[in-house]
Amino acid sequence: MREELLSASGSDDERIVEDRDELGLRPTSLDDFVGQEQLKAHLRVMLQAARGRDQPMGHLLFAGPPGLGKTTLASIIANEMDATIHITSGPALEKGGDLAAILTKLEDGDVLFIDEIHRLARPVEEVLYPAMEDFQLDLVLGKGPAARTMRLPVAKFTLIGATTRTGLITGPLRDRFDYPARLDFYEPKELQSIVARASGILDVSIDEQGAFEIAVRSRGTPRIANRLLRQVRDFAEVERNGIVTEDVARDGLEFFGVDDRGLDKATRALLLSLCNMFNGGPVGLKTLSISVSEPVETVEDVYEPYLIQQGLIMRTPKGRVATAAAWQHLGMTPPTASPDTGLPPGLFD
Ligand SMILES: Nc1ncnc2c1ncn2[C@@H]1O[C@H](COP(=O)(O)OP(=O)(O)OP(=O)(O)O)[C@@H](O)[C@H]1O
Ligand SMILES: [Mg+2]
Repeated sequence: MREELLSASGSDDERIVEDRDELGLRPTSLDDFVGQEQLKAHLRVMLQAARGRDQPMGHLLFAGPPGLGKTTLASIIANEMDATIHITSGPALEKGGDLAAILTKLEDGDVLFIDEIHRLARPVEEVLYPAMEDFQLDLVLGKGPAARTMRLPVAKFTLIGATTRTGLITGPLRDRFDYPARLDFYEPKELQSIVARASGILDVSIDEQGAFEIAVRSRGTPRIANRLLRQVRDFAEVERNGIVTEDVARDGLEFFGVDDRGLDKATRALLLSLCNMFNGGPVGLKTLSISVSEPVETVEDVYEPYLIQQGLIMRTPKGRVATAAAWQHLGMTPPTASPDTGLPPGLFD
């Protein structure tokens, strides 16, 4: 597989640095990609059928919280198809012409990966539709009454879109994907194999229980598992004898402020704010985000999905609410009757 970075997403410096660190950890074949068994089975069939017909794969959409492997899967597919992957992102494509320039450069069989595809501007989406459907590019030449449209053929490519927000993808765009997939949080056992695999690559001495301890605190997310592994490795090398056992992993994670459910400082702060400042809610998402000085998108995309999956918070029409499990986790007593915020439902959502 050849890789061409058309433009960096530039939206999240931390993620870019981390991605560089993680390059060596990224699986390059479906066999090395741990978990998501049903999705992998579907992809295997689609890959084999496309190869058999000597045609590109249909267009794929990967949705799910950050760090679950959307970008990794896109490059695996390009790899398995022996195709060139062109990488860009929704916010990087400002005008229809930006996308047209990329589309005209594609060759048959290439993969075009558009990250954060929910952030595509509407005029750019309009250019994408005929390209996805008919492998055509409709160009408008000139302005006003003299304007003419011209159709240009586009190579038979595969579009892979990634999004952390399925809800924000417009219907017409979603409908044009041949296979929309949702990535789920990983099970501890799966994360344990991801940690074991990464330890092998990073040359970390770790035993099974050590890997499991990291796995259960990784919030169901491979990227977090890899990050925690690196922190625990540092802790083991500096504070212990370099070998990651269950105890060393537990102490190391505690040292770095990760609690026994894998909540880090920022995620705990959100939960604490919900309970302490808003009496457990209901509170609007916007108000809650302001209380922890985080952008609404970060709270909604990064922190919330796992807290909801774990049953620590609930989304209600009136806003976010802490569950009994959240109060228990924080070691606090819930108020007997949770007072209403007095705000009309959804005002700040
Ligand atoms: N199934 C998996 N098996 C092994 N490692 C994985 C798997 N999924 C993800 N990873 C690891 O986690 C890291 C993050 O994955 P990736 O960058 O693909 O996530 P993403 O879904 O694209 O996240 P974002 O939404 O933030 O772009 C990868 O570098 C890879 O090392
Ligand atoms: Mg990604």
